[in-house]
Amino acid sequence: MIHSDPDAVAALAADLTAARYTVDRLRALWGDEAGAALERGNRVPALRALAGRDDPAATLATVLLLGIPVPTAVLEAALPGLGTTGAVALGIVEIDDDRALPAVDLRPYAFVDSRGAGEWWIASDLGEMATGGALRTDHVLGVGGASATLSGLLLPGPFATALDLGTGCGIQALHLAREAQRVVATDISERALEFARFNAALNGVAAIEFRRGSLFEPVAGEIFDRIASNPPFVITPRTVDVPEYEYRDGGLVGDGIVEAMVTGAAAHLVPGGIAQLLGNWEDRDRAGLDRAQGWADAVGLEHWIVQRDRLDPARYAETWVRDGGTLPASPEGAALIGAWLDDFSARGVVGIGVGYVLLRRPRGATTLRRAERLDAPIGDGAAGLGTHLADVLAAHDLSAALSDDELASVALVVAPDVTEERSHWPGEEHPSVLVLRQGGGFHREVRADPGLAAIVGACDGDLPLGAIVAAVADLLEVDADALRSAVVPAVRELLADGILRFAE
Ligand SMILES: C[S@@+](CC[C@H](N)C(=O)[O-])C[C@H]1O[C@@H](n2cnc3c(N)ncnc32)[C@H](O)[C@@H]1O
Repeated sequence: MIHSDPDAVAALAADLTAARYTVDRLRALWGDEAGAALERGNRVPALRALAGRDDPAATLATVLLLGIPVPTAVLEAALPGLGTTGAVALGIVEIDDDRALPAVDLRPYAFVDSRGAGEWWIASDLGEMATGGALRTDHVLGVGGASATLSGLLLPGPFATALDLGTGCGIQALHLAREAQRVVATDISERALEFARFNAALNGVAAIEFRRGSLFEPVAGEIFDRIASNPPFVITPRTVDVPEYEYRDGGLVGDGIVEAMVTGAAAHLVPGGIAQLLGNWEDRDRAGLDRAQGWADAVGLEHWIVQRDRLDPARYAETWVRDGGTLPASPEGAALIGAWLDDFSARGVVGIGVGYVLLRRPRGATTLRRAERLDAPIGDGAAGLGTHLADVLAAHDLSAALSDDELASVALVVAPDVTEERSHWPGEEHPSVLVLRQGGGFHREVRADPGLAAIVGACDGDLPLGAIVAAVADLLEVDADALRSAVVPAVRELLADGILRFAE
């Protein structure tokens, strides 16, 4: 078990700093190709690049990131302040004769958020690459793709209080602590909380309070400005012989854990407070996206739910059997896949939606009720989407507060990442299809008729929308009132999509 003795953790931080144990330094040591191989779980190119090196960053990366033992004397040189004995006492390495063996994965993690670039060291359990075997059921995850997706989606602050539910290694709590005065981080696993405490201490973050318990139990009666959760959403058959991995499985049937998170959030948000989580939902009697929307409606939460992907039951089962370290083609894998398919068919599940949930406790009237399927590739996960989400939420709120007449009296501007694509039948003067394409955000593509496209194209922040509509109606020789009635709802959607913006 990892420990957080303050003096030892401070000595480790000083050694890691002196060693320049950073993302850039490691990339420089082994190069981009080896870095990409590592992301696929292949450490061989990185090990070959480090062969023969004994500088501190290379030593620390060998043992703590690549999971390969190093001679004790070499580790001693890489940790001059903490020493090998201190590293054993902290629980990050073990000694076997004259070799130091990794006991945890400890690696640098770099990010950019609305406050700029930052870097932390994050400790977690050794992964499959280091252990060469299936994960233990109480495995504590490091920063994975889902963690980065959620942290990238988090709306910027500042805000006073935040909750990270299911904190694991503490990554979301650390991100929240950049914006909040006080963060509560909870987990059902004491082992996870030990890692999270260690990571907060190692990175000098004092604003996080750690509490153990299931779901919202540890925060009974408390409300927060923000809630973030990458919950254990993986749908798992409740059958003997199917391992229950704490890091991904909340112990409920089907998508019950995501339903419990959504419905439970209502009692723990201040008015106007926002919860953001990742989730899976089952397509069964109703589409999963509709069911998820129903959970939010049932507790009166405003919501914006985005389904990014949909898997069929077999694909879902293969993904999570492989994630647990079992090959789907092996006899054990086949038995597990059978259990997953039995479980899905018992509830009539025909597909599983994967996506993001944003919930808001309304301050007054409910205006935000949005559930959509958006599966366009958006590059590097959702990193950086948080600012986009905040901007479009603000635009939605302002638009919802304006009557049609008021909206017609304000000036709008096309977002700078929007282009217009026109497709013509060969030889035709007028386009048969007009599409507005968003270069950032969710990379939306919106079909527009010539009237709407002309109005959007004229939104340069000068003329009010109503004047543009009148001019375009004149040009197209159509009734201005009819055009306005048709265009205003579309303009509201374009504002909520981030394709149009308020000029001021
Ligand atoms: C997918 S991990 C997320 C870790 C981390 N927050 C991240 O973003 O990478 C889910 C976490 O939820 C915890 N967990 C599982 N069941 C829980 C429950 N009923 N209540 C609270 N936390 C739970 C697990 O121990 C695990 O640390």
